[in-house]
Amino acid sequence: MRATFFSISLIALVLLYSGLPPASPTPLRISYPAGFGNRISIPADNPTTVEGVALGRMLFYETALSVNDKFSCGSCHQQSRAFTDGKQFSEGVDGVTQPRNTMALVNLLWVRQFFWDGRTRGLEDQVTIPMTGVHEMGQSLERSSGKLRKLKTYAVLFEKAFGSPLINEKRIRQALAQFQRTLVSADSRYDRYLAGTYRPTASELNGTRLFYTNPDPSKGIRGAGCRGCHGGDKTYTEMYHNNGLDTAFADQGRQGITGQPQDAGRFRVVSLRNIALTAPYMHDGRFDSLSQVIDHYNREMIQTPTLSPALRSSNLPGGSSLGLTDREKKDLLAFLHMLTDSTFITNQQFADPFNK
Ligand code: HEC
Ligand code: HEC
Repeated sequence: MRATFFSISLIALVLLYSGLPPASPTPLRISYPAGFGNRISIPADNPTTVEGVALGRMLFYETALSVNDKFSCGSCHQQSRAFTDGKQFSEGVDGVTQPRNTMALVNLLWVRQFFWDGRTRGLEDQVTIPMTGVHEMGQSLERSSGKLRKLKTYAVLFEKAFGSPLINEKRIRQALAQFQRTLVSADSRYDRYLAGTYRPTASELNGTRLFYTNPDPSKGIRGAGCRGCHGGDKTYTEMYHNNGLDTAFADQGRQGITGQPQDAGRFRVVSLRNIALTAPYMHDGRFDSLSQVIDHYNREMIQTPTLSPALRSSNLPGGSSLGLTDREKKDLLAFLHMLTDSTFITNQQFADPFNK
C-alpha cells in the first residue's frame, strides 16, 4: 500500500518535471479523385501523418543517407522530371550504372509490387533496396541511423513524427514510405477533361479515342489498343506483360522473380502519368522519345512465346502493324502529353527542403 502510493507520487513527480507528453502526430488524409479507386495500401502500423510526411520529405533529399554523403533519393528521382533523371541508366555512389531505367514515382499509393519486375511488396520494404544497394546509396540503415543522430535537426523531427526522439531503421523506412505515398498526380489536362473542366483539342480527343479503342479492320474501327494494359484513370493495370520489344531477353524481367518460363521478358505495366517528362522509355530506357514508343507499338510486334496475346491480336491483320497514319500518331502523342501534371512537378510539398 505504502509502496504503491510512493511509486504513484514518483510518477506524478516525473511527469511534473518532464512537462507534457509530446503531442501525437496529426493524421493526414491523402486526397485523390474517386476514379482512382480505393485499393490503396497503407499498413496499419504506419499511418500517414503530417509530421511523418514532413520527416520523410527531408530524408528523401538527405545525402547523409549515402555512403559518400553525395546521393539522396532525389539525385535519381527529380521532381521536375516526375521523379526520374533523364538518363538511360543512373549512376550510383560508386559510379556504376543501374541495370534498369530509373522509374517515375507517381501514384505509388495504389502500387502493390514495386520495381520493373515487382520484386518488392510494400513501400516500407522497397526503400531499403536503394539505400543499401552498393551501386545506389551504398550504406546500411544502421549507419544511416547513426549519422542522422549526429545531425542536430533530426531528433526533434523523429519525436514529432513518432512520439519519441529515437532514430532507428524502422522509422527511417516508415517516414520515407509516408512521404512517397503523398506523391499523387491527379491534376493533368486529362484529369480536368474527366472532371469536365477542360475542353480537349480535336487532336487530343481523337488521341484519347485511339488510346482506348481496340482496332477492328473488319468493321472499319481504327484504334491503337492501349487500354487493355494502360487504360483507366491511373493509366496502368497491375499486370506483367511482354510488349514485343525483343527476340532474346537480355533481362528476364518477371521470370527472374518467379522462375516461371511464361514470365520471360515480362515487365510491370507502368503508369503513363507524366510520361512526356520521363524519357527515355522502357525498363532499359531504349527509346528516347514518345514518337519512338508509338512507332514501336505501331510496327509488327516481335513474336516470342511470351508476347502478350493482347498485342498479338492488336497487330492486324495476321501479325502485321497497327497501321496508324501520321495524323493518328500525332493525335496519340497529343493524348500522352495530356497526362503531364504541372501542379505535381511544382508542388512545394514535394520539393527539396534543403534548397530553400
Ligand atoms: C542511383 C539512382 C537511384 C537512387 C539514388 C534511388 N533510386 Fe529509386 N529507382 C532507381 C531505379 C534504377 C529504379 C528501378 C529499379 C528496378 O526496377 O530494378 C528505381 C525504382 C524506385 C521505386 C519503384 C517505383 C515503382 O513504381 O515500382 C521507388 C518507389 C523508388 N525507386 C524510390 C526510391 C527512394 C525512396 C530512394 C531513396 C531512399 C531511391 N529510390 C533512390 C534509381 C534510384
Ligand atoms: C499488353 C500490354 C500493353 C499494351 C496493350 C500496351 N502497353 Fe505500353 N507497356 C506495357 C509494358 C509491360 C511496358 C513496360 C515494358 C518494358 O519496359 O519492358 C509498357 C511501357 C510503355 C511505355 C514506357 C513507360 C516508361 O515509363 O518507360 C509507354 C510510353 C507505353 N507503354 C505506351 C503505350 C501505348 C501508347 C500503347 C498503345 C499503343 C501501349 N503502351 C500498349 C504493356 C502494354
